[in-house]
Amino acid sequence: QKFKVVVTRQLIDEAQKLLEDVSDLDVVQWPSEDQPAERSWLLDNAQGASGLLVMLSDKVDQELLDAAGNDLKVIASFSVGTDHVDTAVLRKRNIRLGYTPTALTDAVADLTIMLTLMAQRRGGEAIGKVIKGEWPKMPWSPLLMTGPQIGGSTVGFLGFGRIGQATLKRFIPFGIKRARYLTSKPGQPAKEDHFGLLKEGKIPIEPAQNWEQLARESDVVIIGCALTPDTKHLVGKDFLAKMKKTAVLVNIARGPVVDTDALVAALDKEAIFGAGLDVIENEPNIPADHPILKQPRCVLVPHIGSATIETREQMATESVKNLLAGLKGEAMVNEVQL
Ligand code: GLV
Ligand code: GLV
Repeated sequence: QKFKVVVTRQLIDEAQKLLEDVSDLDVVQWPSEDQPAERSWLLDNAQGASGLLVMLSDKVDQELLDAAGNDLKVIASFSVGTDHVDTAVLRKRNIRLGYTPTALTDAVADLTIMLTLMAQRRGGEAIGKVIKGEWPKMPWSPLLMTGPQIGGSTVGFLGFGRIGQATLKRFIPFGIKRARYLTSKPGQPAKEDHFGLLKEGKIPIEPAQNWEQLARESDVVIIGCALTPDTKHLVGKDFLAKMKKTAVLVNIARGPVVDTDALVAALDKEAIFGAGLDVIENEPNIPADHPILKQPRCVLVPHIGSATIETREQMATESVKNLLAGLKGEAMVNEVQL
């Protein structure tokens, strides 16, 4: 029996080869490497599929599952986030979901450091001034382009899974003073200590009792939680109002965790020092006149957290492995417990 699988992107060589080497697959693949599959193409081609390998830009919902029909066994998502997937419907229909949470931890943690330092040290603003030819008007001076220093900071983590902890591991050698974290269970110790940091005890690493405490005490707030109905707009007007004027906000999770209008207002009023964003509401539809782009203290990059060559290769390979494991009823590299 041949399994039909639909893959919504061309994949990097090794993963493509892994897919093509399986003889009992009938592979239907979106032809582009850089453009997302059209929804109508996906709905038309899903019919009779046993597996779908999708990107985070492909919505996996009731409509798509209905279009696929009863042979569908597995969704392999090329991502750590699964907010584009309706997991309740998958559970009901006994469809397995693979994802790639371990492959991208280091790459995203690296970018989080970059965004934090860019926000504190005003990297976007500084580069912008030089490019615009403003340097001749701003000779070196003691307070020119100064910002807060990472050493001595209290770093607060909203969500403290693998990525948050990998980021903390990188921050400790910078000399941060302490870490606070808030998970879905406020005040409780993190359930997993992915890198032994909590046990090691080099600096105090403690749960926050609530979001107010996290906002109030942190010099850096790192958003690394999943997007759920509970975390949507968790960082809005109230949260931002509790943050220190000298603090920076970094979002490497999903745009809608932050209320963009509230963030723009807070930056306008200098109620916080700056922001570093890898994600934003309504991405990628951010036109040149978007108000966030008028904020010199905000650096925004286009969702490139996992974008290292090594990580994208690993994500592609693991996605194919998850797809194949799902078809054969075998163990995946990483599977979401639905
Ligand atoms: C990236 O945002 C991912 O979910 O993989
Ligand atoms: C929850 O957000 C967690 O990261 O544990």
